[in-house]
Amino acid sequence: MKAADEPLRVPILCPACGRGKLAAPAAAHLDYVCPQCSAKYPVDGGVIDLLPGTTQKPNFAQRSMQFDPLIRIYESRLWRRSSVAKIIMGIGFEDEYALIADAAVLGKTEFLLDLACGPGIYARRFARKIGAGAVVGLDLSMPMLHYASRMVREEGIGNLMLLHGNAMALPFEPGQFEVVNCCGALHLFPDIGRVIGEVGRVLKPGGRFTIATSRRADGWIAQQWFKFISSIGVEAFTFSQLESILAQAGFTSKCLHAAAGWMVIAATRNG
Ligand SMILES: C[S@@+](CC[C@H](N)C(=O)[O-])C[C@H]1O[C@@H](n2cnc3c(N)ncnc32)[C@H](O)[C@@H]1O
Ligand SMILES: [Zn+2]
Repeated sequence: MKAADEPLRVPILCPACGRGKLAAPAAAHLDYVCPQCSAKYPVDGGVIDLLPGTTQKPNFAQRSMQFDPLIRIYESRLWRRSSVAKIIMGIGFEDEYALIADAAVLGKTEFLLDLACGPGIYARRFARKIGAGAVVGLDLSMPMLHYASRMVREEGIGNLMLLHGNAMALPFEPGQFEVVNCCGALHLFPDIGRVIGEVGRVLKPGGRFTIATSRRADGWIAQQWFKFISSIGVEAFTFSQLESILAQAGFTSKCLHAAAGWMVIAATRNG
């Protein structure tokens, strides 16, 4: 059994050189250090910062994910669990969670990556569910991760590691995870083909990739909605678009939900 302040033994590759495996520090307040290039990665409020001092230029949609008032209500009935979200997505959060958890086959999971975990709405629940395994939550927004970290402490979760990183270059070894989950974020990435390629790389053959993302529907009202969301940096896809990008990266995929502006997809990495 792992002691509460003992770091999780999840391999992380140094983003600076891509070769060194970061050694967990002897104490929680110390930096992670690369044995190959000596790059240092501080732990900030329980989050390992793999992007220290980076100056990113986030678009409007990504900037909104740094906005504290939104982060505080994110998981509540005012946002992700709201009836407005349910109308826009054609599915409530609990039903989405049930589809995703079922497709992820959590019982057989040791290592799960929650990509763009935000406040950890999925990652924390997965961590409680898989018990002996470990969950890694990676996100670009430090404020989201700090919220997740506070909740992890309050809820006494010991098997969730939080990383400040970018989905465009995952700091993991090939075949490291049984499951990658990415909900509410694929439509925010600047190069979705690259991210899906990265997911294919870090998943084991037969590994599961679960997705909930924005859907491109037909009709005049839907077109006006897409014009608006694309102006703030949010994409929308048809299932066949995603199916073909996933196939190019070595996945077989199935659509579990497609209604209004939302889709839930289960993909399996071909063996
Ligand atoms: C709407 S939240 C989704 C949170 C959670 N996964 C859920 O299902 O509710 C989108 C998240 O994507 C993150 N994000 C956007 N671009 C990213 C990138 N390039 N790399 C990692 N995270 C990113 C944002 O910071 C934000 O926390
Ligand atoms: Zn290094």
